[in-house]
Amino acid sequence: MPTSSKLPSEAEQRSRQRGLLYGRRKGPKLSERQSGLRRTLLPELAYDPAKDPFSQFPNSVKELWLEVGFGAGEHLVWQAEQRSEIGLIGAEPYEMGVAKLLTKLQDKTLNNVRIFEGDGREIIAALPDASLGRFFLLFPDPWPKTRHHKRRFLQASMLDELARVLVPGAELRFATDDKSYLPYALERLLAHPKFEWLATGPQDWLARPADWPPTRYETKAIKGPPAFFRFRRTAKVTP
Ligand SMILES: C[S@@+](CC[C@H](N)C(=O)[O-])C[C@H]1O[C@@H](n2cnc3c(N)ncnc32)[C@H](O)[C@@H]1O
Repeated sequence: MPTSSKLPSEAEQRSRQRGLLYGRRKGPKLSERQSGLRRTLLPELAYDPAKDPFSQFPNSVKELWLEVGFGAGEHLVWQAEQRSEIGLIGAEPYEMGVAKLLTKLQDKTLNNVRIFEGDGREIIAALPDASLGRFFLLFPDPWPKTRHHKRRFLQASMLDELARVLVPGAELRFATDDKSYLPYALERLLAHPKFEWLATGPQDWLARPADWPPTRYETKAIKGPPAFFRFRRTAKVTP
């Protein structure tokens, strides 16, 4: 069970050893209420990548969506509220982000959200083929220095993994306000044979779609005009 101790979790230690996780896990001290929710609510909602994904949701859940780096969780909660038949898995290693999501969830009757306090790559690596109906990566850490680009979440190898776990026809949604992450991501997505861009004109990526609520980062910390990308996992069978 995750705790608020200063020691990194086993999942975090594994990720750091494999060079996967770079951001900070600890931030400001949690309030009494937040620490309490970690002890009581988090174990109930914790997602375990080693277990069958559907078995961790009620039977009413027919499809799984994953958001990596949910921040404070407002987008995740909004999606879960709109679509009770979808199981929303959220990954976030930042302790305060998880605490903020728990606070949002405690007064709600939602039973279709599961939380992984760790590296989203661990979830993706463990998912069965064609098991995910949608994937969200919203305002990921930009890592602007060229020597740090390898730390960016969206890599060609990650797109291979996402193409494996997404159901043919499923959507990948990506947002950034970073001038250099935008072409970096677009170049890799457009080059990938198993993803196709759903935009038909500039408005499709310059304006936020109606079923895509603003995140905390977007409302508080945005650095420049955001871009909203919707790609589809191609339904074509390619070797
Ligand atoms: C710039 S913040 C954006 C948060 C949120 N998506 C938003 O728009 O408000 C990026 C977030 O991604 C998280 N993150 C970074 N690497 C991650 C990883 N490998 N797996 C899951 N979350 C990650 C960070 O902890 C951070 O909260």
